[in-house]
Amino acid sequence: MAIRIAHLHGVGAEITGVDLGALSNDDFDEIRAAFAEHGVIFFRDQDLSERQHIAFAERWAPININRFFAAHPDFPEIALVAKERDQQNNIGGGWHTDHSYDQIPAMGSILVARELPETGGNTLFASMYAAYEALSPGFQAMLSTLRAVHSARHIFGEGPDTYYSNTDAGGGRIGNAEKTKTLADVTHPVVITHPLSGKKALYVNPAFTVRFEGWTVEESGPLLAQLYAHCMRKDFTHEFVWRPGSIAFWDNRATWHFARNDYHGQRRMMHRITVEGEPLSA
Ligand code: SIN
Repeated sequence: MAIRIAHLHGVGAEITGVDLGALSNDDFDEIRAAFAEHGVIFFRDQDLSERQHIAFAERWAPININRFFAAHPDFPEIALVAKERDQQNNIGGGWHTDHSYDQIPAMGSILVARELPETGGNTLFASMYAAYEALSPGFQAMLSTLRAVHSARHIFGEGPDTYYSNTDAGGGRIGNAEKTKTLADVTHPVVITHPLSGKKALYVNPAFTVRFEGWTVEESGPLLAQLYAHCMRKDFTHEFVWRPGSIAFWDNRATWHFARNDYHGQRRMMHRITVEGEPLSA
């Protein structure tokens, strides 16, 4: 079977002709190039055990053990992204990119479908390369002078006003709220040079970006809202329909994602491994 990489409309590429549990070095090199180029890559019909999931992740970078998500009982490297039948709120149900609240944001996450609802539960992805490239040179130049402040406190922190404390998405699935107290806010360039591809990408997101550095929250709101509306345009997005054996691997520096919450009463269980990234620069 020869490896095939098919570019998808909006963002991403679907890779066929590989078994991620027994990957040659040549195929791995092609996958790495596709990941840098497309920002998110998808695989179908894989049969990956937990150990093979961990082994595949370790080929990319050290594993980042998630501070806030419940872990797999036998494999702490694997975070559980779960929604039970009786829960209303899911994890990741809004546009975001993971870990932008870290000084060195994680490279990306490898999400393996373990139990899917009969219908619904798709994940949307958006290309921050394409969103940046579609802006005018003048606007790009202005944005490249800015840095933005990112924080996790209003999302994962202790209540009563934080995102997860206000939902039933916690309930053992999200924890360690007190750890956000020791997380300092961080700043990153609004336009980054992607560490793998060398391409420019927009690096703000609706979940964790709080404001522009040197601007108030109120002053930042309108420009951030304008950028977010731009980034959500259909031309830059792809809706991934999960099937048993599907895997998505997204790059946090090049994409956003959004887990649809449209399958109430059904269970969805995904295994996520996040791998470390590198410092970001303009
Ligand atoms: C996430 O944000 O990591 C969840 C993605 C998904 O469940 O599809």
